[in-house]
Amino acid sequence: MDYTEQPNQRWGGGSVVLVDSVTRAGESLVVSRRRVAAETPTGPAPTPRDAATGRGHLQSGPETPRLAKFHVPEIVFGSGSLSEAAHAAARLGARRPLLVTDEGLLAAGWPQQLSRHLHDAGMRPAVWSGVTPNPKDHEIAAGHECYRAERCDVLVAVGGGSVIDAAKGIALLAGNGGVITDFEGVDRMVNPIPPMVMVPATSGTGADVSQFCIVTDTLRNTKITILGRALVPDVSVVDPQLLTTMPDWLNAATGLDALTHGIEAYVSRAHNPLTDHHALQAISLVGGHLERTMDHPLEQESRVFMAQAALEAGLAFTNAILGAAHAMSHQVGGLLDLPHGVINGILLPHVVRFNAEPDPARFVPIAQALGFAEVSGGRCSDAMAEDAAEWAAEEVRRLADELGVPKGLAEIGVTEDDVAQLATMTMADACLSTNPREATRDDIEALFRQAL
Ligand SMILES: NC(=O)c1ccc[n+]([C@@H]2O[C@H](COP(=O)([O-])OP(=O)(O)OC[C@H]3O[C@@H](n4cnc5c(N)ncnc54)[C@H](O)[C@@H]3O)[C@@H](O)[C@H]2O)c1
Ligand SMILES: [Fe+2]
Repeated sequence: MDYTEQPNQRWGGGSVVLVDSVTRAGESLVVSRRRVAAETPTGPAPTPRDAATGRGHLQSGPETPRLAKFHVPEIVFGSGSLSEAAHAAARLGARRPLLVTDEGLLAAGWPQQLSRHLHDAGMRPAVWSGVTPNPKDHEIAAGHECYRAERCDVLVAVGGGSVIDAAKGIALLAGNGGVITDFEGVDRMVNPIPPMVMVPATSGTGADVSQFCIVTDTLRNTKITILGRALVPDVSVVDPQLLTTMPDWLNAATGLDALTHGIEAYVSRAHNPLTDHHALQAISLVGGHLERTMDHPLEQESRVFMAQAALEAGLAFTNAILGAAHAMSHQVGGLLDLPHGVINGILLPHVVRFNAEPDPARFVPIAQALGFAEVSGGRCSDAMAEDAAEWAAEEVRRLADELGVPKGLAEIGVTEDDVAQLATMTMADACLSTNPREATRDDIEALFRQAL
């Protein structure tokens, strides 16, 4: 097969699926949405208010998309599943996998365990651990150099989103050459890339199932988004045991990241009934279990629920894409090299209010998933939908307070002088195109000021 003719074909098999660009995902799914009334033989046409009840959000709702795509890697989930990553790599033909990780994970001991499993399965892994949080463009280049020098064949990563994104970046360069910042945007890679097995060590980013790769562009001090179907890993091995070594701040930050993924995916312009289900489930799981993991860090059950939350949030947002909170967060993260989930936790209540202002109905199921009880049966009025949306924004802030997240961006180092530049760069972020409410540059500036 001539891979150069198949832009999104991956080594390791699978069918060719052309990627929707973010814009196309946003436009085609939204523009093609139509009322089902004319084609519904029985019963009255659903009204927009039906959405406000939250009932039926898994099935029909008031509109149905003509086209819904849902991509997902093979997933192995369960405590003690780490060894499965070695079997997965072997199945993908690995002989000399590059095991990508970082210093924090090495201190926790998980890469050493995985390396032993790889050896036991007959492979000779090379280990590269040069990633730092918010992975930098030059780190990806160094990892790629190692991959080439060691003549590796498959990427295996164990770590948080930074390690997983670094592994994706290395795979991208292995197939396409060049420098990582050349690939900013949607579907910029043309050649196939090596197989990838991902083992997430945080309960947050969903990078192990997503088509995103987020890298810090150190020249422009921003985080660039690289998006493409080819970046969906082949296998994700989710072992909740790995979460027990996370420090508290990281558990809090990544849990808030998962919550932001669930909420932004649910209201995204590119959401569909397949993503809605996972988004609401993720929101509910974070609401029900994140605080407990902080109080009882070694308790397995709540870790399993948080691992599932992160996974389901990932499945939702990789297909529905995200919104303004992430578009803004990427700029702050690039400027200040701070934990992604903490920035999201600060921004999210403000973005929820902004998006709910013209259309609060979509936020009712979100509020319910977080525990808002007042509209559990029957329909709800516009006023009640507004109440539910405001309650959801306050609940996100309450959770952030409980987790010790700073109240505003100023506390983490953002100043009034940064706002204009942050807003300008937000307008160019791919995640903004699926935000449910059109946001002008002035809107984004105002949001940054509110969040200061
Ligand atoms: N690709 C995607 O789809 C996607 C989605 C959301 C976020 N992200 C990106 O992911 C990055 C954030 O990732 P993250 O929040 O998972 O954290 P991280 O990977 O940046 O890790 C933060 C620190 O925690 C340590 N650590 C991680 N897991 C640990 C564990 N189990 N035990 C002990 N220490 C551990 C690491 O060594 C590191 O020092 C950001 O760059 C963000 O932009 C990517
Ligand atoms: Fe995120």
